[in-house]
Amino acid sequence: MDDIVPDRWYAILESTEVPANAPVARRRLGRDLVLWRDGQGTLHAADDRCPHRGAALSAGTVEDGCVTCPFHAFRFAGDGRCTSVPAHPDQPISRQLHLRTLAVREAHGLVWAWTGAGEPTGEPLFFGLDGFTDAGSRFDVEWPVHYTRVVENQLDWAHLHFVHHTTIGRFVPAEVDVQLEVTGDRIDSWIEGQSGRISVLCPNLWMLEMSAHTRAVLAFAPIDDGRTRIYSRTYQDRVRVPGADAVLGLLNRLANRVVLRQDERVVCTQRPLHGGLHQGEVYVRSDRPIAAFHRWRDTLRHRDAAAAK
Ligand code: FES
Ligand SMILES: [Fe+2]
Repeated sequence: MDDIVPDRWYAILESTEVPANAPVARRRLGRDLVLWRDGQGTLHAADDRCPHRGAALSAGTVEDGCVTCPFHAFRFAGDGRCTSVPAHPDQPISRQLHLRTLAVREAHGLVWAWTGAGEPTGEPLFFGLDGFTDAGSRFDVEWPVHYTRVVENQLDWAHLHFVHHTTIGRFVPAEVDVQLEVTGDRIDSWIEGQSGRISVLCPNLWMLEMSAHTRAVLAFAPIDDGRTRIYSRTYQDRVRVPGADAVLGLLNRLANRVVLRQDERVVCTQRPLHGGLHQGEVYVRSDRPIAAFHRWRDTLRHRDAAAAK
């Protein structure tokens, strides 16, 4: 898949999508993956293709913590090693039967995948939301665009007045003086004279400070070059009574669905399907946060390309 930034954690799905005792299939980062949990509940991910004769491992089972192929029941441990070939239990197992794995972690209710070739460094970045709850607010949708178009859209202050004039953009003026602060992997922006702040933790996590007590958070999971799954949550720290927090979460969920649909109508018409600085689009001053995101991405991608020479 194009445009994946190396050596970073990407949020790729919700933890709850992988049950305790069965493998699941997901296409993410341009790869068909199988994800499963071992006996300790630790998550593992690998290519969803059996090295023996190509069956999908996600159609199999989990036995003794190993993903087990539905065809001839070869087993694979979390580190990718083939541990059992039932047709020849007494013979040594070929190293060619090793599965290609992907380093994954679970944090903040999300599964994160490491995009580097070596061992992961550091932990997934997240926003400081201690004391907040997202009960009842989660949902996800899929858009037919590259994830960079979704990130761009969420860094775009100038569209609020036009695309969201019936919802979150009702009180945002057409004229916007966009301010920007870039710190490492974090991009913050706001409009001079308006409350609210948009923060992106590169490569694919976003937060809108809607009020002192409410934060909308989105993760943009790349499926492939033309598809992105968007995971949405609303965090709030005002209502903590169990049940009541979920009702508020449900209302936020419904509202966010409407807002995302308004975005989808426009973003899914953009061509090409991915965004970037060098494809003939004419940026204006209000696009500075979008330009900052692409510069961050280009710097890391080119550094990787230079290192590979
Ligand atoms: S194809 Fe998977 S064990 Fe044979
Ligand atoms: Fe929008």
